[in-house]
Amino acid sequence: MYNLLKGKKGIIFGALDSKSIAWKVAERAHEEGAKFVLTNAPVALRLGTISELAEKTGSQVIPADATSIMDLENLVEQAMEILGGKIDFVLHSIGMSVNVRRGNHYTNQDYNFTKTGWDVSALSFHRVMSVLYKKEAMNEWGSIVALTYMAAQRVFPDYNDMADNKAYLESVARSFGYFFSRDHKVRVNTISQSPTVTTAGSGVKGFDGFVSFAEKMSPLGNASALECADYTISLFSDLTKMVTLQNLFHDGGFSNMGISTAIMDEFMKKDEKIEEPKKEIKE
Ligand SMILES: NC(=O)c1ccc[n+]([C@@H]2O[C@H](COP(=O)([O-])OP(=O)(O)OC[C@H]3O[C@@H](n4cnc5c(N)ncnc54)[C@H](O)[C@@H]3O)[C@@H](O)[C@H]2O)c1
Repeated sequence: MYNLLKGKKGIIFGALDSKSIAWKVAERAHEEGAKFVLTNAPVALRLGTISELAEKTGSQVIPADATSIMDLENLVEQAMEILGGKIDFVLHSIGMSVNVRRGNHYTNQDYNFTKTGWDVSALSFHRVMSVLYKKEAMNEWGSIVALTYMAAQRVFPDYNDMADNKAYLESVARSFGYFFSRDHKVRVNTISQSPTVTTAGSGVKGFDGFVSFAEKMSPLGNASALECADYTISLFSDLTKMVTLQNLFHDGGFSNMGISTAIMDEFMKKDEKIEEPKKEIKE
């Protein structure tokens, strides 16, 4: 470990169980010397296993529904009290689509579900930042990160209305990030992560197919939740102070690929398969 977050204080949203990306971020932040509070929606605190993580990392859990300003105000005030000062880093790791859960096709949405999914997955990021900004709760050179997926830029049909939510989330990161960076020297970025087997991820129809396809398409393969946590830690650290308003792909190279030989192989007849040049072995 590198003590990258020594003395830093944070708020981590979205650790449901040990598969959650936020769970891995909390474990890594703890290893890097940070102190933080954990938070999740009250229902997730009942269903998930966050208390284990709290114990492991010496953190307190403060319930907050990310769609409630009152909950978020209480969270930020309590976090500053518990941690003894302003906040250095915040992870927004929240996503949920009611249309996906109910199996509604993208072309046939229930718009009340659409609004709820957008409120939870996208507008919540604006709300979190608005509370932090108004309360002047962030230290200078702090860092705010939200997690996103490439369906914000490209079509993944079964990602459904989450694609639109992620596009909105990324836009909020830029728009609010401008004011946060200008006024408080706080950077705001999104990390666009590979498909990862978690509760939210697995809810998407055909998710296994997503994962295998991305694995074959990406020259480095899919990035794991732990690797995503490592990248997030680097963005919370002082080593990335001038990175802001960015959507950063953390996907093993997937986002810049057109086609890979592994995918081509699936579509070629046996005798047409591309031979890779043999590696020369030097004596
Ligand atoms: N798993 C993937 O394939 C993948 C890929 C790219 C990005 N992401 C994003 O990563 C983030 C974390 O997801 P994950 O994959 O770790 O799954 P996860 O299910 O472990 O985490 C989602 C979290 O959102 C929380 N949440 C839902 N409604 C909430 C509310 N009203 N208030 C507060 N919290 C609420 C849940 O309780 C849960 O902890 C999400 O933004 C997700 O879209 C996931």
